[in-house]
Amino acid sequence: MLTQQDKARALAARFDADGGVEFSPGGVPISRIVELYGTPFYLYHGEMLLERVRRVREALGEGIEVSYSVKANPSVAVCQLLSQSGAGGEVASSGELVVARTAGIAPEDIVFAGPAKTEDELRRAVREGIFAVNVESLGEIERLAAVAEDEGSSVGVGLRINPAAQLMGSQMRMGGTVGQFGMDQADLGEAVRKVLDYPQLILRGIHIYTATQVFDVDALLEHCRNIFEVALEAADHAGRPLEMVDFGGGFGVPYFEKMEEFDLERFGAGFRDLQAVYRPDARLEGCRFIFELGRYLVADAGLYVTRVVDVKRMRGKTFAVTDGGMNHHLTATGNMGQVFRKAYPLMNLSRPGAEPAEEGTAVAGPCCTPLDMFGTNIPLAEPEVGDLLGVFYSGAYGFSASNRGFLSHPEPAEVLVWQGEPHLLRPPGKPEDVLNGQKAVL
Ligand SMILES: Cc1ncc(COP(=O)(O)O)c(C=O)c1O
Repeated sequence: MLTQQDKARALAARFDADGGVEFSPGGVPISRIVELYGTPFYLYHGEMLLERVRRVREALGEGIEVSYSVKANPSVAVCQLLSQSGAGGEVASSGELVVARTAGIAPEDIVFAGPAKTEDELRRAVREGIFAVNVESLGEIERLAAVAEDEGSSVGVGLRINPAAQLMGSQMRMGGTVGQFGMDQADLGEAVRKVLDYPQLILRGIHIYTATQVFDVDALLEHCRNIFEVALEAADHAGRPLEMVDFGGGFGVPYFEKMEEFDLERFGAGFRDLQAVYRPDARLEGCRFIFELGRYLVADAGLYVTRVVDVKRMRGKTFAVTDGGMNHHLTATGNMGQVFRKAYPLMNLSRPGAEPAEEGTAVAGPCCTPLDMFGTNIPLAEPEVGDLLGVFYSGAYGFSASNRGFLSHPEPAEVLVWQGEPHLLRPPGKPEDVLNGQKAVL
């Protein structure tokens, strides 16, 4: 079983394939990036992003479409690279729709899911002519129909179904129980009839996304088999073949100790077998099969880099205190709803070849709360003030998932290393930025 330190080393070797004396992600010395943009920053590795999409597409095989869940990382440059390598887009807000379109994803390759889509959001989706608005309730079907009529336009509809059967073996369920996501399977017939009642709505098919961080391949395959069955049920209600089955995804990323890689190749082989059974069914003739993936496509290609500002020993424990923490990377500090707080793989990037200190280091961010902690026992080469620490698996739910205004520190930069060069995607903030958009009264 891989330790967190093994994972950090393996990921560091992928970021810096040449592995010289200085850590050089994508061939760019880290000191050069720091000189250009300061710290802290998010770094994304272009080639690693492309490699991941290629692997997923190869594993799933011909005829399966991969859609990028923009929520995982709405950087337009990241989205562009994924789009260029053939990914469509799954969006959950107008802002994400803007990112997807700006990144060059064609409207016919975009689906829009998410509870609480406002009238304005539905209108934008209709105007953009995206492939499917994945509606989450019977009421939303009516609202979408009204907007489409008002626009004098038609619009594709996917029915987000909350299946009766639960997907077991995941770490966060978003279906199979009661909740705000999707419609009960028991309402499928009524939902199909409702869509068909409106001439401006085009029934595309179904969408089922019920869980994230899934590692159990057999459970996920069984879940996909069930999705095929729900799709056939929907086609029966419609009396015609479906155009889309969106299988969600939820492939897991092994952030924490004792987690192993999701077995993509075994899942792909199992899914191809399933497809061979269901694809020939006339009710799925010409149907698009879509997987929408967020973290699995981008997490490992991102690194959060922060500088050690203070090192101190307290009751025998070494503390490294860094210039960025939960304000920039909420998930890596365990503050995104995690019940048990566990550390991501970290590395002292200033001492890439050095063995870790005998005793684990506590790494804390700059915010004035004990919650701002990357971990209390991290295997790290003895840190010194000025060292750079890297937090791996930071490409997903990092920058955009954090409360960056908390404590009013400057925003981190976002940098892409791509074809041997650093590209600034978003400049680092300055202290004065805290006043942006504010108005004093005196
Ligand atoms: C509808 C939907 N699709 C896709 C995703 C992406 O999930 P993940 O990043 O785990 O792949 C989410 C995450 O919340 C989601 O709600």
